[in-house]
Amino acid sequence: MSIIEIISNRHSYRGKYKTDRVPREDLIKIMEAGLAAPSGCNKQTTSLICVDDKGILKQIHAVIEPPIAETAPALICVLTQRINAYRDKCFAVQDYSAAIENMLLAIVELGYQSCWYEGHITDDDKICDKIAKVLNVPTEYDLVCILPVGIAENEIIAPKKKVFSERAWFNTFNSKE
Ligand SMILES: Cc1cc2nc3c(=O)[nH]c(=O)nc-3n(C[C@H](O)[C@H](O)[C@H](O)COP(=O)(O)O)c2cc1C
Repeated sequence: MSIIEIISNRHSYRGKYKTDRVPREDLIKIMEAGLAAPSGCNKQTTSLICVDDKGILKQIHAVIEPPIAETAPALICVLTQRINAYRDKCFAVQDYSAAIENMLLAIVELGYQSCWYEGHITDDDKICDKIAKVLNVPTEYDLVCILPVGIAENEIIAPKKKVFSERAWFNTFNSKE
């Protein structure tokens, strides 16, 4: 698939995963794609922990309520550091978002599925902090997102998106050109 085809074939997958393990080689490729993303002033504020150990996966799922991606053979946990790029400008959110999108695309290219789980784990109950504790993450890092990785068992459903002309234009806002 070309990169454009991968982009249009990527959809958030929330179904069950097959039990097949994801080879380390593929997990490394996916994480490398994440780390290759641009970052504000090249501060590289994003770090990653990929969990593929069954015992640690079990400990993580024990703190996620309601449960998500319980059958995924691997989870990539995205960490961020609030380092300023210059003066008081911090681009950490943009940095990790770019890294996540790169990883989601790499995941699809390699034949796996995923979903950007951020809202679920960063809500008031702070599941993210509980996962960070399981993984011995130092306090200067925030765990902000988890990406399951695995082969989909169920159908991949494309969500409805607004039409192009409602969100993108040439030359001036809302132009009909
Ligand atoms: C910042 C952010 C947070 C998200 N958090 C969650 C989440 O907590 N749970 C979830 O099921 N999906 C989450 N998603 C996935 C979105 O729901 C999904 O991208 C959106 O519905 C569009 O679907 P698509 O990814 O298939 O294009 C999140 C996406 C983003 C960008």
